[in-house]
Amino acid sequence: MRVLVVGSGGREHALCWTLARSASVDEVIAAPGNPGIEAVGRCMPVDVKDPAAVAQLADNVGADLVLGGSEESLVRGLVDAVQARGRHAFGPTAVAAHLEGSKAWMKELVAEAGVPTARHAAFTAADEDGALEFLTTLDGLYVVKTDGLAAGKGVVVTESLDEARDAVRAYLSGSAFGDAGRTLVIEEGMRGPELSLLVVCNGDVDGAAPLAPAQDFKRIGDDDTGPNTGGMGAYSPVPVAGADIVEQVMAEAVRPTLRALAARGIEYRGILYAGLMLTEDGPKLVEYNVRFGDPECQVVVPRLTTDLGELCLASASGKPLPDVRCATDAWVTVVLASESYPASPRTGDVIEGIDAAAAQPGVLVFHAGTARNDDGRLVTAGGRVLDVTASAPTLGEARDQAYDAAAMISWPGMQLRRDIAAAAAAQVSA
Ligand code: AMP
Ligand code: GLY
Repeated sequence: MRVLVVGSGGREHALCWTLARSASVDEVIAAPGNPGIEAVGRCMPVDVKDPAAVAQLADNVGADLVLGGSEESLVRGLVDAVQARGRHAFGPTAVAAHLEGSKAWMKELVAEAGVPTARHAAFTAADEDGALEFLTTLDGLYVVKTDGLAAGKGVVVTESLDEARDAVRAYLSGSAFGDAGRTLVIEEGMRGPELSLLVVCNGDVDGAAPLAPAQDFKRIGDDDTGPNTGGMGAYSPVPVAGADIVEQVMAEAVRPTLRALAARGIEYRGILYAGLMLTEDGPKLVEYNVRFGDPECQVVVPRLTTDLGELCLASASGKPLPDVRCATDAWVTVVLASESYPASPRTGDVIEGIDAAAAQPGVLVFHAGTARNDDGRLVTAGGRVLDVTASAPTLGEARDQAYDAAAMISWPGMQLRRDIAAAAAAQVSA
């Protein structure tokens, strides 16, 4: 197969790296790709926000399968556009991508399906008073979210009622996130470890197959301090999430949601990513995403021993999925971010030390936001710049290897969290 991967982040680098090793895949093309992906596939320019342009490129290169990257592309109808030209595209159609595109719609659907999740209500600017009133019914931990897409940054979780009120006003006025925030969702705060379960779906409720669970680190700072980001690191497997928890999430959240979608005439294919919180009352749904998680993909997908090309093609064409299996080793990824991420990342700094880091045993350095300058040197080109990823027999060893390799890389103002997988590694070795 010739596979076209749409996007340019660390997730897409990990997908391309894994596809390049798949027996079913002859050629990997990334659009637009990044300098790291050039080592495993061909990169071609495209406007990822334009589904028709991506579908045209898929025709031009004769792609047998298109793997659609970001939520924005999917919500805009990437899969619909590619399918309309008679090609296979992995991912949900625009209507199914609503699960991530509108949190209010998603919450309504899952409440109807009986999925355990936080109590919530949705409001528009016309009902600011109602929103402020609803906040007072919550129990000390307040969550305010944009209804629409905000690249993982449109959520405020706070114990301060004043801060929650400020967020409501800023969102509804459009000053914080433009139109994405003019409808908002307020939820009760949940407490507990978070879990990301990425499930491969093929349109058949009972055919859905979970990948290995992963844990992501959303805040910029150690010990979960500071603002939310797209994700600062991840690991898999997750010691607190054994097969029993995975089956509970499939039975209480994923399958009921797929059934509720089917009842509305919506068939779901591609990745359904359940973001969960393991509360004292059991796993509860935080959100659904309609694509691979970034950086969870980097620790889940390369771990697969099932052929990724074959798995994605079966999903995209609505066929039974091959058995999903993964290696027994542990994977850890540490995100290296640029100065002032997530508020206003500085770009254009020359990156030193990638080759030395990538030469370490068990280490892969996925590019998330890099570019080449006029001298051909690698420079920072985004908020999240590199994902230093390591695999080893245990989480502790994988973590040490990832941090040793990360220490070889530098640029002015580089940021990283020091506690990725720390608690889990300590728990396993205790
Ligand atoms: P979302 O965009 O819905 O995934 O939210 C982003 C992050 O905000 C989640 O990964 C959680 O860390 C946090 N969060 C969202 N909703 C809640 C909630 N109801 N209770 C506690 N934390 C939450
Ligand atoms: N890492 C969180 C996400 O991909 O949404």
